[in-house]
Amino acid sequence: MLSQKALLLGAARRPGLRRLVTGNRATRAVVDRFVAGETLDDALSAVRRLTGQGIGVTLDHLGEGVTDRSEAVRARDAYLALLDGLAPLGLGRAAEVSVKLSAFGQALPGGGTDLALELVRPVVEAASAIGTTVTLDMEESATVDSTLTVLAELRRDHPGTGAVLQAALHRTEDDARALAVPGSRVRLVKGAYDEPPSVAHQGRDDVDAAYARCLGVLMSGPGYPMVGSHDPRLISIAQRLAARAGRTPDSWEVQMLYGIRTAEQHRLAAAGVCVRAYVPYGRDWYAYFMRRLAERPANLRFFLRSLLTS
Ligand code: FDA
Repeated sequence: MLSQKALLLGAARRPGLRRLVTGNRATRAVVDRFVAGETLDDALSAVRRLTGQGIGVTLDHLGEGVTDRSEAVRARDAYLALLDGLAPLGLGRAAEVSVKLSAFGQALPGGGTDLALELVRPVVEAASAIGTTVTLDMEESATVDSTLTVLAELRRDHPGTGAVLQAALHRTEDDARALAVPGSRVRLVKGAYDEPPSVAHQGRDDVDAAYARCLGVLMSGPGYPMVGSHDPRLISIAQRLAARAGRTPDSWEVQMLYGIRTAEQHRLAAAGVCVRAYVPYGRDWYAYFMRRLAERPANLRFFLRSLLTS
């Protein structure tokens, strides 16, 4: 039988359900908890507010899984406009961007990896020109090799380009070792996609144990670890490992998603930890939103109540 998580992640790819959610005003408030808004101005307001409070940001222009080249070109242009908008704020690395290569055409047949590289390169160059960086989000396990290939190409000229590794995948400890090199920025997350036992740990405890092992690899290496988690236990392990490795507060960071454990983001920042919020914005929020519902049953109950009482 399919788990609730698998059902929700499957629903993220169902356009019929998407219309049900987007057409309902009452669900808007629930979506707004996780998404900073639909426009670039909304995103820039969130950037000003969060950075003013001592929280860094990584901005995600929502969109993924494009089905033709013109959509991929639009994704590139949206990121270039975002970087234009960030330039006058002069925030440098306090405001970076995150991209999903599937929005840049990675899954298109006949050279999707090359197309994604061609279209993401100008974004990385524009980020570099304003003193900031790009992190490549990680999507389904089938895309990991392609994403790491694009990363390696980008890092030749822009070694600060970051990537995400998902602790749930069996391969990740090896990938973490390969990426624990000078200048390398790696965001470690648990993994938000539904993956089979052949490629991924299935139990929460197994994923958490794998996360701690990968953290050990990244923290003891010469790179810049980005701890992408809201899990208090893993964040304390990260703090202990960072102290044991003699890391200074500016040599690693904690990242959390916009709207999740916000008080904890502020508490950590006040305690001297570098904290960055992942800020998604744009009209194409449905798949991102469904992944957030899938992560926590309480979110689903709250959302269903808003649908039923509208
Ligand atoms: P866990 O799910 O155990 O949550 C710990 C606690 O955090 C919960 O008890 C709850 O309090 C809170 N919490 C977590 N998720 C919540 C939610 N949706 N709503 C409300 N509360 C919640 N994944 C991926 O596959 N590729 C990627 O590129 C990224 N990128 C990314 C960036 C950043 C900055 C973060 C923080 C996460 C990602 N993820 C991701 C998502 C990640 O894989 C994972 O699904 C979520 O972070 C949830 O796992 P936690 O580590 O937070 O632990």
